[in-house]
Amino acid sequence: MSQMDALLLYCRAGFEKECAAEIIANAAQLGVHGYVKAEPGSAWVLFQCASAEEVKLLTTELPFYRQIFARQWICVSPLIEGLPEGDRLTAVRARVAELVPRYSEIWVETPDTDAAKTRLGFCGRFTKPLTNALEKKNQLALGSSAPRLHVCFVADDAAFVGVIDADNSSPWFMGIPRVRVGKDAPSRSAGKLVEALMVMIPEDRAHELKAGMRAVDLGAAPGGWSWVLALRGIRVTAVDNGPMAAVAMATEMIEHVRGDGFSYRPHRPVNWLVCDMVESPSRIAQLVAEWIARGHARHAIFNLKLPMKKRLEEVRRCADIIEQRLAREDINYSIEIKHLYHDREEVTVCLMQDKAVR
Ligand SMILES: C[S@@+](CC[C@H](N)C(=O)[O-])C[C@H]1O[C@@H](n2cnc3c(N)ncnc32)[C@H](O)[C@@H]1O
Repeated sequence: MSQMDALLLYCRAGFEKECAAEIIANAAQLGVHGYVKAEPGSAWVLFQCASAEEVKLLTTELPFYRQIFARQWICVSPLIEGLPEGDRLTAVRARVAELVPRYSEIWVETPDTDAAKTRLGFCGRFTKPLTNALEKKNQLALGSSAPRLHVCFVADDAAFVGVIDADNSSPWFMGIPRVRVGKDAPSRSAGKLVEALMVMIPEDRAHELKAGMRAVDLGAAPGGWSWVLALRGIRVTAVDNGPMAAVAMATEMIEHVRGDGFSYRPHRPVNWLVCDMVESPSRIAQLVAEWIARGHARHAIFNLKLPMKKRLEEVRRCADIIEQRLAREDINYSIEIKHLYHDREEVTVCLMQDKAVR
């Protein structure tokens, strides 16, 4: 019987090193030491552990939302290789039959690279016969608390098969949220904020971003982020020396202030600070921490533009800067840092002060 003794992680192509370094460090904190298989540009990382128990420990003890660079994680059995073109189903079905008694859902996926995604049509066609096979064996319990089945074709003739619990993993196929951004969005960046609002604000705190609130957007031009907030009924002060797009200003919810984002401060506190300035990450971390520490804004969403090297170290340095500054003011907060689907050489941070403050 195959053991699910490895953890498969999906990430953006080119970020395999960061994804690997992160899981190695997080696993080590639980006393789990494994080795990594990661090919640059493949968009997946395999963290091989000594036992299935260790892999299970990781996915139960580590909160998935705390993984910065992983889009998804799956406990997997050894790679099935050499699948014949005419019949890939038999071997996959045999593996699926032996892993767990029941599955709540079936996702047949590929890594997120242009080459791999050409297999998505095949994945779609593969799902139906696999579903039928599981139904026949009474192994499908849709909507139950059973783990979700993932089959990931990392090559035309090779697939990982494994499971993950829905309550500690990404709820999105291939770990990619389906984000809808209006066609007239002033910039591609708008998608980043839409995604951040969708995946980073917990459901029980959704009311903390609502119509009637006020926000400041530092580095706002041409206005994608301001526009996203304006469409939610939030009044935005958009700070940037550059011009704002007419479509954003036409919302009548945005005041454009031409000025420097580092020296601007609001006359009265705002609910949200958002910031997408292209600047050194530690400078942005200091600035945001200062805004929160001095009570200029209650919550913040911001980007940290990452250098090509030492990206994980840089993110950790920024988290430390924020922690140290807010600890001085005794401010309790939760922070989530994520390499979102819409992020390229950057990560997005959502910092929310806890309900009971000071
Ligand atoms: C990536 S763009 C922002 C895009 C914007 N979030 C959107 O959705 O359209 C970065 C912006 O930051 C602005 N910027 C950079 N440094 C700044 C500073 N010190 N003060 C104000 N704006 C700054 C630039 O002018 C640029 O418009």
